[in-house]
Amino acid sequence: MFIDNFRLRFYILFMESIQQLRSQFQQELLSISTLTQHEEISIKYLGRSGSINTLLKTIKDVPLEQKKEFGATVNGLKKEIEHALEEKKQQVLSQTEDAQYTDVTLPGTPYARGSVHLVTIAIEEISRVFSKLGFNRMSYPEIEWEQYSFENLNMPPEHPARDDFETFFVDHQPSDVFGKMILSPHTSSGQTREMQRVQKPPIRMINLAKCYRPNWDASHVPMFHQFEGLCVDTGITISHLKGTIDYFAKEFFGANRKTRIRPFHFQFTEPSFEVDVSCGVCDGTGIIDGTKCKICKSGWLELGGAGMVHPNVLKAGGIDSDVYSGWAFGFGIERTFMMKEGLNLDDIRVLYSGDVRFLEQF
Ligand code: DAH
Repeated sequence: MFIDNFRLRFYILFMESIQQLRSQFQQELLSISTLTQHEEISIKYLGRSGSINTLLKTIKDVPLEQKKEFGATVNGLKKEIEHALEEKKQQVLSQTEDAQYTDVTLPGTPYARGSVHLVTIAIEEISRVFSKLGFNRMSYPEIEWEQYSFENLNMPPEHPARDDFETFFVDHQPSDVFGKMILSPHTSSGQTREMQRVQKPPIRMINLAKCYRPNWDASHVPMFHQFEGLCVDTGITISHLKGTIDYFAKEFFGANRKTRIRPFHFQFTEPSFEVDVSCGVCDGTGIIDGTKCKICKSGWLELGGAGMVHPNVLKAGGIDSDVYSGWAFGFGIERTFMMKEGLNLDDIRVLYSGDVRFLEQF
């Protein structure tokens, strides 16, 4: 009798405290409107020293026969609370999101904006100038055969001129016809490819591409860019070359810039020249405030090489050199861009360092 009475009393007390906890929780649940409040209430009920655990710890005082029922009831309540809290969390989250999306007056989070790399700017600008003259913009392989980079350009295997174009060789089975596979050391490799593609002049090509040579110091990077102009037709002369380079210089650098050509030697052109453009910093005088211009030292900046296409090159491209003549030039894109901006970089490797503080200035 005593035992039964004790059990009954315990049972009633226990059920009362469960009910009390439930209604207390339900009230607090209604008051939750932020994630912080949600977290506080979760800890209060479900945390290590929260109400549910505290209740579970009293199981040691529960009469043996009632332990099972006690445990099941408390765990049932625990599940109920967990479920209600999860639902509440979703509700709070979606309300916060709604608020974020609908309050259009809130200042947005700005995206970190990149900028176009200066080599890309230069490529676009150069292409624009030459497209006005009716030049086709072409892209020829960066991984190229020796044949197109050298033999077709009048540089047979043992010719010392090849030393000027130190080369990366690709680990690939050489071809009986085309020789070894290399990374193209200049855009001139595209000359005979274009001749073979077009077959019958007129040809007006501008080939802008990456070039590779194994050099790494303050004024060289192993990957750089060149642009190559090629014009082949009947009656083409040096005057056309000079006129085109002049036009380019005025369009790209500014109307007051001049160009000049100096005799030089290249295997693939005859005659050959080096091309200079007047310095924009000292206006071609070589002097600023009575001292030598630091950018050019002489009034002129070297753009690159040019010349009349050698008959052997025309022949390698399948073009009759008795009928047609042509000119070509090859200039470095990085150098050309720096001349435009009057930039005198101590170390040109900064161009490819990926340092945004440098790049975003252009
Ligand atoms: N390919 C030469 C170089 O990389 C530049 C060059 C010189 C290109 C004379 C030409 C040319 O088309 O006619 O140094």
